[in-house]
Amino acid sequence: MTEIGPGDAALKTAFCDYVPQVFRKADFRRWTDWGEWNDDYRAFSILEDGRAVANASLMRMRLLVEGREVTAFQFGAVGCVPSHRGRGLARAAMEAALESCGDAPVILFANKTVLDFYPRFGFVPERETLFAARHEAMPGGPPAPSLDLAEPAVRAGLAALSSEGLPVTERFGARAYSTIASWYEANKFARPLRRLGDDAWVFASVEGDTLYIDDVFARRPFDLRAEIPRLIDRPITSIQFGFTPERWWPGAEPAGEDTEAYLFVRGLTLPREPHRFPAMAHT
Ligand SMILES: CC(C)(COP(=O)(O)OP(=O)(O)OC[C@H]1O[C@@H](n2cnc3c(N)ncnc32)[C@H](O)[C@@H]1OP(=O)(O)O)[C@@H](O)C(=O)NCCC(=O)NCCS
Repeated sequence: MTEIGPGDAALKTAFCDYVPQVFRKADFRRWTDWGEWNDDYRAFSILEDGRAVANASLMRMRLLVEGREVTAFQFGAVGCVPSHRGRGLARAAMEAALESCGDAPVILFANKTVLDFYPRFGFVPERETLFAARHEAMPGGPPAPSLDLAEPAVRAGLAALSSEGLPVTERFGARAYSTIASWYEANKFARPLRRLGDDAWVFASVEGDTLYIDDVFARRPFDLRAEIPRLIDRPITSIQFGFTPERWWPGAEPAGEDTEAYLFVRGLTLPREPHRFPAMAHT
């Protein structure tokens, strides 16, 4: 069992080589090259001849639960290469990672093949909710320029907004997760990052006649409704949110369960009100 942090290039390479063997579409190389692997991210890997064969990673999180900040961990990249499954290796990696969390709460977003795996480690499933609003709008005003997280200055700007700015939701969210958001961009999974102003950046794009707003990074409140025309290139009739929009769109309604979230928690009580943990903060 080897604990891998940001400082060891050879071990980081072993971890990066492991990931695509288990997760078809995920890659950590570009994200690592961007220098986004910091002290908050640690991988607990089982190495065989220098090759990582099983792993459980954790990201230290500044969670927010009903406005209260809680130091917690989020698990990710849990797996075992196909040739080594069924030998207790993922269990060993999970146990090592959990031990390093002590009594701190742990959350994770799973997938439908492992719904009976995490309860073996004390995790319980929790429901996540989708939020949407009816809203008709036409394009207007100067389109919000797109920002490229491949540029170090943009990454630094997002890090500052994420740690110093307003959390997108306080019901069940987090602060300072720009290195998670950048992972999505490094893998080309993120919606475009659009700049509404110096201190107001949003991940958003239009599909059909719906504007999807995945996250809002802002230093202070602003009128998101007034900025919608700058985020769209065709008329829209609705908006979907990647987070609980109690702050940014109080009139939004729960729009059913997020059936693809597969949230599990350990040692944490979530709000009774419906919530959606920010999409860009999932590891
Ligand atoms: C799920 C996975 C991590 C299991 O790895 P593994 O090394 O074969 O697991 P282990 O041998 O350590 O099994 C540990 C325990 O979990 C059980 N288990 C294994 N896979 C399971 C699954 N998919 N669902 C439920 N239980 C499972 C084992 O029976 C074992 O039980 P026991 O310790 O009580 O005897 C592996 O199949 C994998 O990498 N899957 C693809 C990646 C993935 O989806 N990861 C989860 C991301 S959220």
